[in-house]
Amino acid sequence: MAVSTYQTVKIERDSGVTFLYFNRPEKRNAMSPQLCAEMVAALSELEVDDSTDVLVLTGAGEAFSAGMDLKEYFRGLDNDPAGRLKASWDARLFHYYKLRQFPKATIAMVNGWCFGGAFSPLTSCDFAIAAEDAIFGLSEVNWGIVPGGFVSRDVVLTLRYRDALWYALTGEPFDGKRAAEIGLVNQAVPRAQLRDTVMALARKLQAISPAVIKATKEAIRNCMGLSYDQAWDYLAAKNDQLRLRDPEQSRDRGIKQFIDEKVFRPGLGPQPRSQ
Ligand code: COA
Repeated sequence: MAVSTYQTVKIERDSGVTFLYFNRPEKRNAMSPQLCAEMVAALSELEVDDSTDVLVLTGAGEAFSAGMDLKEYFRGLDNDPAGRLKASWDARLFHYYKLRQFPKATIAMVNGWCFGGAFSPLTSCDFAIAAEDAIFGLSEVNWGIVPGGFVSRDVVLTLRYRDALWYALTGEPFDGKRAAEIGLVNQAVPRAQLRDTVMALARKLQAISPAVIKATKEAIRNCMGLSYDQAWDYLAAKNDQLRLRDPEQSRDRGIKQFIDEKVFRPGLGPQPRSQ
């Protein structure tokens, strides 16, 4: 499926893996109102795009994203309540609904600067892999605001509590290696290996039934807000739903291949995809 072209967002494809770029390299990929709106549009197209198995979110040039655009998103909308409302909804749709609930696996490939508001799209991706020398920072305290949007919520969810407070209150920048230590990213690798590492993970995810991937990410994310009793019931229903919605019938096929045919061991890797 052909998707539209955008000014502040760029799409590249590599056999089922779609790279979605923040594309304002001259502004360190700061998120302007236009970029947020274009991200919503691009994600809406890609979520139903048959040629996208895995989505990789990354930045053009030397930044992942320097956060919300201080000139266009903040000062530019100070006296424009209608524009502010629209921009704030687009940011919210992009950062949370469209990205976090994207129906395929998502990987943040953190290639450089990642500040403030960029922590939200970062944590909304299912995985995050960073260059060891990428620089992260909750810089809000340095210019007089609290980490807004969903950022405070996201760091408390993702980081250890003490680290969340440390970096939010000091504004100290930290590198990719430290981001991996404190759980903000899964892994930090030398810059030269970043793309290959991301592609290896993407290929691994492509080996699993898309319906199983979608249901599993929904299960993990949605369980966070449930009681134990609710989670038990929700997950039972989710598995029933998956049996109906997985065209590859992975569950029944997997059990048959393990128990009857003895051709597959689920503990050692995914079953071969059915055609
Ligand atoms: N909002 C708006 N513009 C931004 C921006 C942001 N968050 N981050 C960078 N830019 C712009 C700069 O104003 C500059 O524009 P100009 O060329 O018109 O002057 C351009 O991007 C390049 O930025 P510059 O600061 O010269 O690049 P650098 O490589 O020396 O430094 C950063 C990179 C990321 C360290 C620095 O730009 C920075 O501190 N940005 C703000 C990060 C931040 O606190 N974000 C939180 C927002 S919630």
